[in-house]
Amino acid sequence: MCRLGPASMNHELPDKQPVDWAALRDEALEGLTLSLIPPKVSLPTLPSAVTSFAKRSLDETVSLRELAEILETDAGLTLRLLKHVNSAFVAVQGKIKSVIQALSLLGCVGSRRFVLVAGMESAIRAHNSKLINQNAFWSTNLQKAIFSREIALLLETDAEIAFLGALLQDYVLPVLTNDMFVEYSEFLESSDVDTETFTEFERERFGWDHGLVGACIAYNWKLPDELVCCIRHHHSGLRILTDATLGRSPVAATALSSLLPDQISPGRQGLALLRRLEESWPAFRLERLAESVDQQYSQMSLGIHNAFPLLPRCENQGNADSDSSTGTVASSP
Ligand SMILES: [Fe+2]
Repeated sequence: MCRLGPASMNHELPDKQPVDWAALRDEALEGLTLSLIPPKVSLPTLPSAVTSFAKRSLDETVSLRELAEILETDAGLTLRLLKHVNSAFVAVQGKIKSVIQALSLLGCVGSRRFVLVAGMESAIRAHNSKLINQNAFWSTNLQKAIFSREIALLLETDAEIAFLGALLQDYVLPVLTNDMFVEYSEFLESSDVDTETFTEFERERFGWDHGLVGACIAYNWKLPDELVCCIRHHHSGLRILTDATLGRSPVAATALSSLLPDQISPGRQGLALLRRLEESWPAFRLERLAESVDQQYSQMSLGIHNAFPLLPRCENQGNADSDSSTGTVASSP
């Protein structure tokens, strides 16, 4: 574990510097092309309406009308958006019938979040997944996203990028573990997996890990450079907090969220590291954060059931007999 003295989070963290995200993205992806991925992996595609919306909605000068027109090119997404706002805003008088009305109700941040969540989820769900339970997977991703946003607020950095970065950090795993089922299942059945051994296994066996592949695809999808960097570095662990450039960025928030347990790494090692962080960072209180995550999750009503609330898993973390799982990976197709 990196050493973070009690004062370090308050006084010794590097001051926030302007970040050249394009340069960091170039550095992160240097030498990697998607040609490294075996041809048997069927890489996911994201609807162009989703990537256009994600990119344009980050520009504050773009009108709601333009954003609505982008979404209206995708009938499935349009229908899902209208269904969502008509169920989430039951107090609004009358039916919401137009995309522009729906976007106006959700606001820019809420709209971007909805479009990315819905677009990514349908792109990944379109693939079979023999190893990963997709319902539990999306539930865990959303928890990590809310957790990451809370960390970003503590770090006084961009909370929305932190949310999206954490939400997307593992999106490529259902596809990789499905299309390379034999290789992944051999490893997952063989040992007590934690995130570090998992990414080490990927690098040794394949020459890449899912963070690299996910970042490379996200770049090809033209997602913002900050998100590409969040995905690329999400398994950097606590040491990212001492990085002069990224230590107080959404990348650090995303990396802390990756320490929460999930189907691939259901053990308690990540939670134990977060507990240790409490000792050196007074503002970081794991249970308080977990409680807030569970509350926000239910308020967000993105249509993804919270199958494994976070707080009970954090409370049970010290109990050797407790279950911190988030659903299990399947052992056979
Ligand atoms: Fe991951």
